[in-house]
Amino acid sequence: MESSVELKRTHSCGELSINNTGQDVVLMGWVQKRRDHGGVIFLDLRDRSGVVQVVVSPDSDEPSFEKAATVRAEFVVAVEGQVQRRPSGTENPQMATGEIEVAADELEILNAARALPFYPGDAEGVDEALRLRYRYLDLRRPEFWHIFTMRQRAASIIRNFLIKRDFIETETPMLTRSTPEGARDYLVPSRVHPGEFFALPQSPQLFKQILMIAGFERYFQFARCFRDEDLRADRQPEFTQLDIEMSFVDEQAIQQLTEDMVVTLFRELLDVELKTPFPHLTYREAMGTYGSDRPDLRFGLELVDVSSILAESNCRVFSGAISSGGIVKGIRAPGCAGFSRKVLDELTDMVKKWGAYGLAWFILEEKGIRSPLVKMMKPEELEVLIAKMEGQAGDLLLFVADGQHVTEDVLGKLRLELARRLDLIDHKMYSFTWITDFPLLEYDEDEGRLDAVHHPFTSPQEEDLPLLESQPEQVRARAYDLVLNGIELGGGSIRIHKRDLQERIFNVLGLEEEDAQEKFGFFLEALEYGAPPHGGIAFGFDRLLMLMLDLDTIRDVIAFPKTQKATCLLTDAPASVTPEQLRELHIKLAHEKKS
Ligand code: AMO
Repeated sequence: MESSVELKRTHSCGELSINNTGQDVVLMGWVQKRRDHGGVIFLDLRDRSGVVQVVVSPDSDEPSFEKAATVRAEFVVAVEGQVQRRPSGTENPQMATGEIEVAADELEILNAARALPFYPGDAEGVDEALRLRYRYLDLRRPEFWHIFTMRQRAASIIRNFLIKRDFIETETPMLTRSTPEGARDYLVPSRVHPGEFFALPQSPQLFKQILMIAGFERYFQFARCFRDEDLRADRQPEFTQLDIEMSFVDEQAIQQLTEDMVVTLFRELLDVELKTPFPHLTYREAMGTYGSDRPDLRFGLELVDVSSILAESNCRVFSGAISSGGIVKGIRAPGCAGFSRKVLDELTDMVKKWGAYGLAWFILEEKGIRSPLVKMMKPEELEVLIAKMEGQAGDLLLFVADGQHVTEDVLGKLRLELARRLDLIDHKMYSFTWITDFPLLEYDEDEGRLDAVHHPFTSPQEEDLPLLESQPEQVRARAYDLVLNGIELGGGSIRIHKRDLQERIFNVLGLEEEDAQEKFGFFLEALEYGAPPHGGIAFGFDRLLMLMLDLDTIRDVIAFPKTQKATCLLTDAPASVTPEQLRELHIKLAHEKKS
């Protein structure tokens, strides 16, 4: 369908208003809808700016009228015509351009469209796999143009902010060595060096530290990171970090910069004034009170330690757990005495699935306390327990007795479940918190060795250094996370900047000297050539946008996201390669791809 005349676009659909009445315009866009009404054809024409009604009547150019009759949804057309006021009574107040229409003189079909697997306007209820397969149709929705405009504005606000503060935006390599951030690497085989591989960066961690050694003092980057890990709604195998590093700073300076930046971003992008300073919780306080190192502080339901009350209890569920080194903690669910047996069973099943032995419940009613455990407990003991929990008639008290980690972790999850069921979360709120004083190391049961909680370049706290070899799990890190509404938005630390301490950490982590040399020799060496004290932080930029725009998944803020199974349905990646390519890469497959 070739154009007979070359039309040049003069206006966009959404910009037209009553002020353009009488003007000749040329519009180009997609046909959202065609309606035929008594010999007159109405087209809703859409471009990025909006939708306008086009009228093609038999009085317009005849070939154009014929073409208009063949047009279907999502055809791309050019229309030349005059803007006119709609006849009185036919205005559409639902439409931004509803007072006017364009009377077409001429219509060109720029490209036809086949019947679509789904129409952008109806995409909402369509299966996500189909939407990802035809991502360009899904992305034809104005919601997405809004999201990506906001994404760009956010990046621009942050970039301006950091450049004004004297940061140098610097790119770091994609083809690099493995950086230990705790996930598996995506590897890229080298053709030139048989048997050798690059790793795609899990983060630019070592490069940004090396830039500090290079004297950059202040670095930032919107960095693409790659992690082969289990995916969730807030995780993608490929994601973007806002990555920052600074020299000659302490935790406080990095946190202050972060707060200033976040405040500016929320003000300029959302017109929201955030309250600063953001509250601080130590890791232990967060775990103890909220059962999570990324607590959602938009609601209460705090965990209460009742171990001291129940240590001597006749009820073995409690005293047994305590005597074997565990604890008992509880949550008061206000006004939940009416929870049915079915709901209590559901909650019990959940805590069991999360790893607890069971869930103890007490229903507080005006006429007394209901619980399968009541008869095993002394009345005074119950009284003290309820007082400690600040229980009132009408409340439900829930307890878990187990090892400290399991108890806190399970109650942390139960706390979120209760908040959801009770609809306690105010979705208009932005609740930021710093979590500090993380442990430096944790024991990995599966691997049977110590692991860095943040990453192995994080500095231990000076006063805990003497414990490094004797009680490594007691050592606290100079690390901090920024949490927003129960989601980890960013994390960073003050780094080790001296070779001997870095080697000591590698040693505690069980990295043989030779291994450390092979993997990080270049970095250990750099630490010996005048490495300044430094520290930094990285934010999940996708997560930040998801939270600011109140979306459920980071897939909505990534133009071409991967599925939960780490595949791209649009391009059908990953895909097999030819035997020729494999030969060039010196790779032999152990398993042929199943067809
Ligand atoms: P960390 O591993 O904590 O720190 O990552 C920083 C932030 O990146 C985001 N993030 C992710 N977002 C989407 N998908 C993922 N798979 C994913 N993984 C992490 C989170 C997280 O808080 N180099 C250090 C930072 C530093 O020490 O400066 C690092 O990468 O929001």
